[in-house]
Amino acid sequence: MSDTNEVLFTITRDKLNTGLRSFPVGTVRTSFVDPIEGLHYVGYPISQIWHLDPEAAVYLLLHKELPTDAQLADFKADLVARSAVDPAVLDMLSHLPRQGHPMEWLIAGLNLMGMTGKTDDYIEDGLNAIARLPTIVAAIYRIRSGWGAPIPSEPERGLIENFVHMLGVPGGNADNLTRLLRVFYVLHLDHGGGNLSTFAAKAVASTLSDTYASLGAGMAGLYGPRHGRANQDCLNFLKRVGTTDPDEVEAWIRQALANKELIFGFGHAVLRAEDPRATIQYGLGQDICPDDPLFKTALAMRERAVKVLKENPKISNPYPNVDAISGTLLQAVGLDDSDYYTVLFGLSRCSGITAQIIDERVNFRNGKGVAIYRCKYITEDQPRRDYKG
Ligand code: MLT
Repeated sequence: MSDTNEVLFTITRDKLNTGLRSFPVGTVRTSFVDPIEGLHYVGYPISQIWHLDPEAAVYLLLHKELPTDAQLADFKADLVARSAVDPAVLDMLSHLPRQGHPMEWLIAGLNLMGMTGKTDDYIEDGLNAIARLPTIVAAIYRIRSGWGAPIPSEPERGLIENFVHMLGVPGGNADNLTRLLRVFYVLHLDHGGGNLSTFAAKAVASTLSDTYASLGAGMAGLYGPRHGRANQDCLNFLKRVGTTDPDEVEAWIRQALANKELIFGFGHAVLRAEDPRATIQYGLGQDICPDDPLFKTALAMRERAVKVLKENPKISNPYPNVDAISGTLLQAVGLDDSDYYTVLFGLSRCSGITAQIIDERVNFRNGKGVAIYRCKYITEDQPRRDYKG
């Protein structure tokens, strides 16, 4: 039994205004991030389970056990039964302004699903959201890109197989797309309790706000360039490098650093080694797109950016993170508009957030749920004054 009065962290003044970095806030049962070994889902290293069926990985986060074959079949059937999206939601999406970012569309889509279909039960709404989001994200792609009307869902295909079917990527290679997106989905589901989108969504849910509004708040966080939108920025950054030659890439990096530019896709708040989610995708790229020029640039960056960044002792993590390579693979299989990469991240992350919301609202504190989040801010530059009239 752990000591409930154990001191976990000392807060000194210099730790204020550092984004709660390393502050313990609560407990988490779905996943943890080891600084060296990276992401684990309910104890399993991601390097051992990245190839799971997407539905099996979601089941693991929800139930804290891998499913048996029978449990997985039941879970898939349950998701199929829940997957129908109210046509009014798709119709309303078709009226959204095209200049809105796909993440703004996703946030709108979540709120529309909430307005038309919430039950106010965290488990029901969570499972419904997981089952319905592939249809929403595929519709966002098709309507906003002008590819055409949404393609009717065939949920029996499987969560990601159906998503690829509903995307109907013009000229896309469905086999490679499915292969990549199944892995992409599993890798992006969850990343401990304190990543910003998950934290924000759980904080909103702690007010007893519903699942859809909470997921919308989480996705507003994921939309930021310092969080999920980094995969979009990272691909655009790689395109600017413009060479696959490692020596030229190294020279480019040195020049970029001299110009005080950020090297996108490297570093992480928690990790102190290469993100295993990146390692897995580099390996997948060798199978899917070994000759793709951007993939070759990404490989040269992997080698040379680490070398250059290591020369600066102030950089605590010079290694690639998940965003260093994910966009490269997505463009190689036909999803070449980087504006959409964060909605693909969001499609996956909403499932992990849902599992964490269910834990916080339904399971923790013997079912009482986590209290409403209310942290303390230290007053600065506010001497008491009297208003004189
Ligand atoms: C994530 O997957 O959420 C990102 O790596 C960011 C984080 O863990 O803080």
